[in-house]
Amino acid sequence: MEKTFLMVKPDGVQRGLIGEILSRFERKGLKLVAAKFMQITPELAERHYAEHVGKPFYPPLVEFVTSGPVFAMVWEGDNVIALSRALIGKTNAIDAAPGTIRSDYAVHTNFNVIHGSDSVSSAEREIGIFFAPSEVLEYERTLQRWI
Ligand code: PPS
Repeated sequence: MEKTFLMVKPDGVQRGLIGEILSRFERKGLKLVAAKFMQITPELAERHYAEHVGKPFYPPLVEFVTSGPVFAMVWEGDNVIALSRALIGKTNAIDAAPGTIRSDYAVHTNFNVIHGSDSVSSAEREIGIFFAPSEVLEYERTLQRWI
């Protein structure tokens, strides 16, 4: 089953949006398999955003993501990566479709509330950065047959 890494960023935590965001993924029918409320260190931010080193937005991005606690999660489901990104919406809130998280809650590209993996390889890499294998749970859900 496909897995993805999602993270409520510091702005989402500060604005009290963890529950609202989590419930959107729960109601969709996706399955939560790991979660951690944590402070990202500069070293962890550099690993997570390694592909963006050298881009103009990299320094403010690292400063932002280390500025306060984040809520890191792993979700599981068929096509969970694409489905999650559809729920999240485009990076820039102006381009995010109405009803998406970023359309509903974000104004600026730099403060866009949530991160979601963009590919299977990114998801595997990001899950491995944030979670030990033992922290990603395997369990059955009785309602799985209806989704
Ligand atoms: S790229 O170059 O197209 O791959 O970049 P993009 O996917 O648009 O964005 C990568 C992450 O950088 C964040 N970002 C920014 N942060 C701060 N300031 C500015 N101007 C900015 N532009 C992009 C963007 O939110 C992405 O973060 P994640 O956590 O991956 O969603």
